[in-house]
Amino acid sequence: MLTAKQLRQKYLDFFKGKNHAIIPSAPLVPENDPTTLFTGSGMQPMIAYLMGENHPLGKRIADSQKSFRSGDIEDVGDNRHTTFFEMLGNWSLGDYFKQEQISWMFEFLTKEIGLDPKNLYVTAFRGDESLNIPRDDESVSIWKKIFKGVGIEALDVDLAEKNGMQDGRIFYYPVEKNWWSRAGVPANMPIGEPGGPDSEMFWDFGAGRGIHENSDWKDEPCHVNCDCGRFMEIGNNVFMEYLKTENGFEFLKQKNVDFGGGLERILAALNNNPDIFLTDIFEKAKVEIEKLSGKKYEDNKEAFRVILDHLRAAMFLIGDGVFPGNKDQGYFVRRLIRRAVRFAHKLGVQNNFCGDVAKIFISDYKSEYANLETDQEKIVAELLKEENKFRETLEKGLRIFDKAIATTWDDLDKPWDENMQTWDARKLTGKLVFDLYSTYGFPKELIIEEANKRNIVISNKALEEFQEEVKRHQDLSRTASEGKFKGGLADHSEKTTQFHTIAHLMLAGLRKVLGENVHQKGSNINGERIRFDFSHPDKMTEEQKKAVEDFVNEAIESKTEVVMEEMSPEEAKNAGAEGEFGHKYGDLVKVYSIGNYSKEICGGPHIKNTSEIKERFRIKKEESSSSGVRRIKAVVE
Ligand code: SER
Repeated sequence: MLTAKQLRQKYLDFFKGKNHAIIPSAPLVPENDPTTLFTGSGMQPMIAYLMGENHPLGKRIADSQKSFRSGDIEDVGDNRHTTFFEMLGNWSLGDYFKQEQISWMFEFLTKEIGLDPKNLYVTAFRGDESLNIPRDDESVSIWKKIFKGVGIEALDVDLAEKNGMQDGRIFYYPVEKNWWSRAGVPANMPIGEPGGPDSEMFWDFGAGRGIHENSDWKDEPCHVNCDCGRFMEIGNNVFMEYLKTENGFEFLKQKNVDFGGGLERILAALNNNPDIFLTDIFEKAKVEIEKLSGKKYEDNKEAFRVILDHLRAAMFLIGDGVFPGNKDQGYFVRRLIRRAVRFAHKLGVQNNFCGDVAKIFISDYKSEYANLETDQEKIVAELLKEENKFRETLEKGLRIFDKAIATTWDDLDKPWDENMQTWDARKLTGKLVFDLYSTYGFPKELIIEEANKRNIVISNKALEEFQEEVKRHQDLSRTASEGKFKGGLADHSEKTTQFHTIAHLMLAGLRKVLGENVHQKGSNINGERIRFDFSHPDKMTEEQKKAVEDFVNEAIESKTEVVMEEMSPEEAKNAGAEGEFGHKYGDLVKVYSIGNYSKEICGGPHIKNTSEIKERFRIKKEESSSSGVRRIKAVVE
């Protein structure tokens, strides 16, 4: 049986053998990507190259990308959902297409790692007249030939969602299932977004195992996409060749392949066990939690899974510089840790334990992700800090709960009155319960538990209302945090590109005026302004702001050429370039220089000469962003 480490290596070696350059994982917090808070798939860091920019390492790229999907937090607990996962990825940037991709994937899965083709099922795009995009018959005929080569007559069938498997091997599905873009289905894609039909591969864990029959889907037909868990998607071949435009879909400059497959899921297929928490990735941490709690995984699957998933995710996120907090990405790290502590508490774990579990994950992952070892102390300290904070909060929350209950006891004793539509009417108000939830982090189960301990039964109807309130709040805060935290460039328009170059000059100016400790902490750039976060402990004085403005304006007036060179991270460092080293592009990075004014590692795009900027640069606002981080809003006028 392969371990996660071996599987990852085999995949990368396989594609290296097919002339792919292997690149390291990009960080979990995307750079220059305004569409998302987290890197949730391998292709996100590749967008510029899928759109046609030259990748410094060529047209064939492969990697194993750390990914985090915040939307899946509440789904963790079943046998296959995780928030963090590693996505094995390979890309053709205008090079090979369907034929090579499909046959290589089949070769990898069935020959290289030995999955039995009899248990493999695949899907293809059904076609969509309203989009004017045809059915993907090409992929289907490639799949048929390949299956035939191993003695399997692969029947293609349609409407499996209505009619079930129909003895098919290849299934057509609509855009909801077989279309991929960062924004999802075509209707949700903004203009300028790339996407395309895909062909997914599924592993069958077996009809005889009663998985479908014992699931929420038991009354519906079982098919590869029915989500009962009998079939697990183990990889997705996206044929990314379309661009959404004002006039519908057009072809991109080039035909791309974007393949992504979950490392954990492929391992589960190899295990032939649909529980991904039974793969070697979680083994040691699971044993540790069994030791700490005195409970067995088998009897407490949901709690174990939440703890395992959430702590692994929090460990990776902190390692990528996201600390627990109330806003933006930090909010999710806080939620992960608090949920893990809650579930551990339920299992009877009394003492702080997150750091111990994180250390186990770190020791397994450090050979692939070296920063985890160097940052181990920081990661463990942040986990501990949050754990302690949560315990204090819980205690305080319980006191408030008790106080509130003491004054509302009489009302709560009455039966639920249909006419009383809000919690307010019940005194143990929605507001209070909601405060317990939002300010003190009391999850629903805890509120029920604590109420029950005090002989108070909370009606289902009331809980539903509370739940709706929670959802409203989550949607709001998510929207707010996404709206607020959009990082990077809003688009690649001329004006935004100018501002991007100005941002480089501004960072150089800040470093000159305030010192070398200044580094970029985040940016949000559109055609109207720059918002820029940087590390600096103090408020800037008027003189300092003026000095930075003068520096930038001088560079603009000097009509200096902007030059891009590709070099190794080592060379970039020696050349004094500012930026993160060796994170993203493997052996080569792009360095943008603006005369002697600025030299910075960056993916672009930039203007060709500062003379393209016709206006003067001005810092409009300088304020605190978070502890040790300042935020500038700057414009040209
Ligand atoms: N972008 C596709 C996915 O995330 C394949 O990499 O599924």
